[in-house]
Amino acid sequence: MKIINHITDIQDELKTVRFKNKTIAFVPTMGNLHQGHLELIKQAGQLADIVVVSIFVNPGQFGPAEDYDSYPRTLQQDIDSMQAYQVDFVFAPDSREIYPEGNLNSTKVSNVDLSSLHCGQSRPIFFTGVATVVAKLFNIILPDVAVFGQKDFQQLTIIRQMVNDLNYPIKIHGVATIREKDGLAMSSRNAYLSPSDRKTAAHIYQILSQLKQRIELGEVNFDQLQMDAGKMLSNNGFDVDYVHIVASDTLLPPIHASNGLVILLAAFLNGTRLIDNIILE
Ligand code: PAF
Repeated sequence: MKIINHITDIQDELKTVRFKNKTIAFVPTMGNLHQGHLELIKQAGQLADIVVVSIFVNPGQFGPAEDYDSYPRTLQQDIDSMQAYQVDFVFAPDSREIYPEGNLNSTKVSNVDLSSLHCGQSRPIFFTGVATVVAKLFNIILPDVAVFGQKDFQQLTIIRQMVNDLNYPIKIHGVATIREKDGLAMSSRNAYLSPSDRKTAAHIYQILSQLKQRIELGEVNFDQLQMDAGKMLSNNGFDVDYVHIVASDTLLPPIHASNGLVILLAAFLNGTRLIDNIILE
């Protein structure tokens, strides 16, 4: 596993890889790796010859009042946890390397339809920040396939759309959410939760699962279902951001209450923002 900090160095390494006709799988992360990330890395190893993992806490996707400064930076621990997997290169640039002017880019990649929905309502710059940095990382790494978690369902949808719209010759591979034993989706931000909030957080998946079951049993009044879920979350001490039942391809309200749905949810627990979703085939 080679740790590389500079763009020109990773580009040189990967030129050699490509010259040998080897394929590249790329896993972009912000570090503080947990089992969810390690599953992405494991699957990346099954998809191509060479695995590149980036670790970059992207300032471009944090709002002014968000946790950019306090976001956990655990590079050595991350490197240790990747030893058990096939990781050929870790690309860990600093912020000046990615944004040399220090003031982020004036060129941005933005999905004008999807970026303002759902999470975009309370995090207006988030998806543009994500799409911009992922576009930059794709241009640096030039992977054959890139791997993202379904936990960030809206992010995954926006990346798929970006690749499609901008003709990136990159396959996007989505990986099912890895959960703790009580159902809580793994996330770096779970570390912010107090022990009692950590227990409460398990309600998110229970509520999503209940909603899924009710839809599968034939309920079609989605407004009612969304409201019920919101009430259950509030009763358990969450500040609800949203619960939306939408079509899994467009992320818009479904026209037909049949298949291809996803329930997206975001809620705060004592200031920690948690997101999750459940897919209905
Ligand atoms: O999902 C994440 O960790 C980040 O949004 C990503 C895709 C690495 C971009 O910074």
